[in-house]
Amino acid sequence: MDIRNVRPFPAPQARLDIDTPSLGLTRRLRRNRKADWSRRLVRETRLTTDDLIWPLFLMDSSEARTPVAWMPGVDRLNIEEAVRQSVHAASLGIPAIAPFPFVDKALRDPTGSEALNARNLMCRAVRAIKAEVPQIGIICDAALDPYTSHGHDGVMEGERILNDASVAILVQQALALADAGADVIAPSDMMDGRVGAMRGALDASGHEDVQIMAYAAKYASAFYGPFRDAIGTNATLIGDKRTYQMDPANSDEAIAEVALDLEEGADMVMIKPGLPYLDIVARVKDHFRVPTFAYQVSGEYAMIMAAAGNGWLDGERAMIESLMAFKRAGADGVLTYFAPKVAEKLKAMG
Ligand code: PBG
Repeated sequence: MDIRNVRPFPAPQARLDIDTPSLGLTRRLRRNRKADWSRRLVRETRLTTDDLIWPLFLMDSSEARTPVAWMPGVDRLNIEEAVRQSVHAASLGIPAIAPFPFVDKALRDPTGSEALNARNLMCRAVRAIKAEVPQIGIICDAALDPYTSHGHDGVMEGERILNDASVAILVQQALALADAGADVIAPSDMMDGRVGAMRGALDASGHEDVQIMAYAAKYASAFYGPFRDAIGTNATLIGDKRTYQMDPANSDEAIAEVALDLEEGADMVMIKPGLPYLDIVARVKDHFRVPTFAYQVSGEYAMIMAAAGNGWLDGERAMIESLMAFKRAGADGVLTYFAPKVAEKLKAMG
């Protein structure tokens, strides 16, 4: 039986006895909504598996998985399991993954030196995944926060996060990731000038095909909380990130950030967080008409999962609706922890 043919309500028994004067309407927008076939015909936005980028968490462990407490349904994966899950993601048709490392606390230091180690967790994982599933895109974050003892994306002098010194290190990190086989470098650090510096260094070292997806408009947001639990920076972060990530009050500044990253050579731009910043997504897409992505961040995921877990909303519907909203706003794709779940659902729906 096709579930779409099931009538949700009993047929009306009799006409309601209400005196109804004619409204004289020529245009009734409800007419196109009267049945599923008609709603499908007039639907303006489609969500497909091609729209999904799957962020996943890596760890060095003999265990295959450990749960991320603040993100129900999300686990940290060891390299073997990350390879298996990448095979699964590719088989579902998910175009790309975005791995993030949980770095052993003993390996963190003030300058994030482990980020430059060609044998670090990320580089080993990228090599292993590329060897097994070359057809899936791998998008690698360039930022030092998983590697620094203070949890910041750059290096510090006293209380200050140094811009140019951080960029010099981030460029080396990008090169290490590209050497390991990263398809896309995604600088998420928000230092000024990092896209241009990375582009130059990538080109000079034979990586001219490596793309750059710039976290172009990344806001200093409370919605990253669960991510910091996932990669273990919540306890270590000193202060906040407001001197480099954007003020949530600003919109024109996002246009300036995107313009600069494009001038410096970004192939794709990203807005982050997602749903609370859909106005920025729409504005950036309208203004620049370039490949524009949005990140449905950990806090957005956690909110839906927590409410669904309490029975306060239908989690699956909220998941699909939220992702559709990104598409409607103009995003070309979404980084979402729901990616495998959504891809499975879309596959089941044919
Ligand atoms: C690190 C980084 C963060 C996220 C992606 N890259 C956290 C931060 O800036 O503190 C957040 C992703 C999420 O919350 O899902 N530069």
